[in-house]
Amino acid sequence: MANDNSVADALRARGISRRGFMKFCAATASLMALPPSMVPRIAAALEQARRPSVIWLSFQECTGCTESLTRSHSPTVEGLIFDAISLDYHHTLQAASGAAAEAAREAAMQENWGKYILVVDGSVPVANPGYSTIAGVSNTDMLLETAAGAAAIISVGSCAAFGGIPHASPNPTGALPVYSFLQQYGDRTPQTLSRVAYGERADVRSIPLINVPGCPPIPVVITGVLAHFLTFGVVPELDALRRPMAFYGKSIHDRCYRRPFYDKGLFAESFDDEGAKKGWCLYKLGCKGPTTYNACATTKWNEGTSFPIESGHPCLGCSEPDFWDGGGFYKAISTPVDSLSRSAVYAIGAGAAAGVALGALNRAKRGRLEKTHSKVGIDDLEKGN
Ligand code: SF4
Ligand code: SF4
Ligand code: F3S
Repeated sequence: MANDNSVADALRARGISRRGFMKFCAATASLMALPPSMVPRIAAALEQARRPSVIWLSFQECTGCTESLTRSHSPTVEGLIFDAISLDYHHTLQAASGAAAEAAREAAMQENWGKYILVVDGSVPVANPGYSTIAGVSNTDMLLETAAGAAAIISVGSCAAFGGIPHASPNPTGALPVYSFLQQYGDRTPQTLSRVAYGERADVRSIPLINVPGCPPIPVVITGVLAHFLTFGVVPELDALRRPMAFYGKSIHDRCYRRPFYDKGLFAESFDDEGAKKGWCLYKLGCKGPTTYNACATTKWNEGTSFPIESGHPCLGCSEPDFWDGGGFYKAISTPVDSLSRSAVYAIGAGAAAGVALGALNRAKRGRLEKTHSKVGIDDLEKGN
């Protein structure tokens, strides 16, 4: 809770030199897709910025989002940012447990009411408050009471952003994404409010909320969003699904290194055919890259090592709503995916596979092409076809 120091003070205390600090600012600018000319402004802002208190709540989740964040090697931008904030409460990472842990959350709320950042991973069960509780408090109450004093809310992972696995059909727990929950139930008074009302309660429906989806999300995307808020004190530009444009503004397909094969109509037909060995496009093996918006193709994973498509696996569309119910991970998408680009025209002209230009063809033509569209199901894979 030591957020009386500025971010720069905290970094200096760790032995980070001025040069290291400027490198940190440059990395932060790069993370947020800002031009190098913004580096001095970021440095000036971080010299002044107080270390914000961050309260991280985990509801119906698998811990994968936290695992993602902690799977980075030190020293990293992630590490620096997490030294630059005051992570006051995180079920998985904190040493305290039980009453001491809850006391830490309440103390952080009391000291920073109206100023802390609330991070949530996991969805919120509304079918029965008993489905998921922490220290005897239902997720619904804990979210309502903690959100009431937050300056901003970040929904980390597809479970928090869109409901994720718990929300998949038939959604037995009535799982809701954080944003939907707050919009629907935000006017309710949590039963436990008397314990932790430390100031005027904000209307939780109007608190800025950023979705950082992915199953799990890319660690540097999580930290990039935090860095943006830390630096500028406002949420970054968001798309219609409340995702930061800097990271989710372009599709995987737009930036995929296999795109030239797609444009030429060269597709792997199975995971062990010649096309797969040559690194051809994975569209026919179910790749959802054309309809998935995320930064994997450029940021990559494991310190820029690779991402699913580079490892030979189609994108599952994990940063999109309801990707679990999307009709099959290994089935080629058969809905319109793209405008008819010049290269796609080339692909059609070359007699390439049918899926290439569905988005720009008329319905009749599309139906005819879909009939010839090779689809690969999980059974085919298990048979080794
Ligand atoms: Fe786990 Fe994925 Fe949900 Fe994160 S988004 S909690 S990794 S299931
Ligand atoms: Fe890459 Fe998938 Fe697009 Fe092919 S369909 S270019 S593998 S994103
Ligand atoms: Fe998810 Fe697709 Fe990236 S499955 S990890 S959005 S390549």
